[in-house]
Amino acid sequence: MAGCLALAAAGASLAVKPEPPVAFSDEERAAILAHGPWPPTFTPDPSNRVSGDPAAIALGRQLFSDPRLSRDRDRACATCHNPARAFADGRDRSIGLARVDRNAIALANLRLNRWFGWTGAADSLWAQSLRPILDAKELGASAELVRERLAADPGLAAAYAGIFGSTPTADSPELVLVNTAKALAAFQETITTGRTAFDAFRDALASADRQAMANYSLAAQRGLKIFVGKGRCTVCHHGANFTNGEFDDVGVPFFAEPGRVDPGRHGGIAALRASPFNLLGRYNDDPGKATASPTRYVEQLHRNWGEFRVPSLRNVAETGPYMHNGSLATLRDVVRHYSEIDVERLHGDDGARLIRPLRLSAREAADLVSFLETLSAKVSTAN
Ligand code: HEC
Ligand code: HEC
Repeated sequence: MAGCLALAAAGASLAVKPEPPVAFSDEERAAILAHGPWPPTFTPDPSNRVSGDPAAIALGRQLFSDPRLSRDRDRACATCHNPARAFADGRDRSIGLARVDRNAIALANLRLNRWFGWTGAADSLWAQSLRPILDAKELGASAELVRERLAADPGLAAAYAGIFGSTPTADSPELVLVNTAKALAAFQETITTGRTAFDAFRDALASADRQAMANYSLAAQRGLKIFVGKGRCTVCHHGANFTNGEFDDVGVPFFAEPGRVDPGRHGGIAALRASPFNLLGRYNDDPGKATASPTRYVEQLHRNWGEFRVPSLRNVAETGPYMHNGSLATLRDVVRHYSEIDVERLHGDDGARLIRPLRLSAREAADLVSFLETLSAKVSTAN
């Protein structure tokens, strides 16, 4: 009997070899705490006078899936930003009236952005929201068409009048387009992601609650240690939203097709400057125009070629394929990319300093993926 028990115990200890606890240095701990707290508090957008207005949010919600914003009445924002797919489309590159060059960004926590789109071609959520309406490859409509369609629907026209104190018929087509985009922005600001397993761990670490910390898998803890430590991921994927909000180059090839490059941030700055809808323009509702400072001072540099916005990693497990062109299908592929990165492919000098092949072991790569998978939570919107 005693022999049997001893055998069983030996078997059990072979099967479940206890994993060593993960220890974090003071520096790693500080870096982890900087990825929170979550959720952030909402502040209305000063450049959009209807930001946070319930009537504008309701109109924006309706228009977001309304095909009348498209030339042929056959697609909407929600076609490429599908609420059932974390407000992305699951494709490598989106298809509107034609295939576009880039991957649809999953919409969430947008009040935290400084720049919008992969290249920051817009400096406000409302300016970003009117771009696809006009883009010949996306919805292919025009300001005139939007005004005509809003004016033709008594319900929409009345909602517009209630929010903006004027009517689509009385306002210029350009103003109707901007107001439509501001309502769309008011709705999109309410798309937020909830608390994640990582957030619970981060708060437990902050209060040294060992019992709560133990709810977070050891694989995720080891992956987190790589993320803030030798992976140096946190340098760019910084703060509560896992992005510094700026642009960089991590060696993703930027040919849109053979012989044609996507200029990245370099082109984004040119488009931003040329846009009549940027925050320096007449449609910014912020009286002091303090919101326009980053746009006033942004400089176009040679290093901006081939740079793309550092994406947020909140909900990243739900938002593949990855990178500006959707060229990496899974998180394992992304981790492999960073592990084996070809430094010859880096164009910018800044990226070259930070980025070098990590040469992760199979287990380290799996741990890093496990960590990235703990950044997911439910996506919700205002009712
Ligand atoms: C044909 C697919 C398609 C349609 C339709 C579409 N989008 Fe997008 N959306 C994209 C792509 C692709 C990007 C990335 C654009 C870029 O950087 O070039 C994007 C980016 C965005 C962003 C930037 C998010 C961020 O974090 O910077 C917002 C906001 C957005 N779209 C809102 C909208 C709204 C509002 C509509 C409807 C009026 C819409 N989109 C229609 C594909 C689409
Ligand atoms: C030098 C800044 C920088 C560093 C360091 C960095 N990243 Fe990134 N990351 C970026 C940029 C920029 C992109 C988008 C690149 C593109 O689309 O061309 C990106 C994209 C990603 C994506 C794809 C997200 C999406 O929605 O498409 C993931 C996942 C990611 N990084 C994880 C990591 C991990 C894990 C590390 C550490 C091993 C890391 N990053 C290190 C800047 C950085």
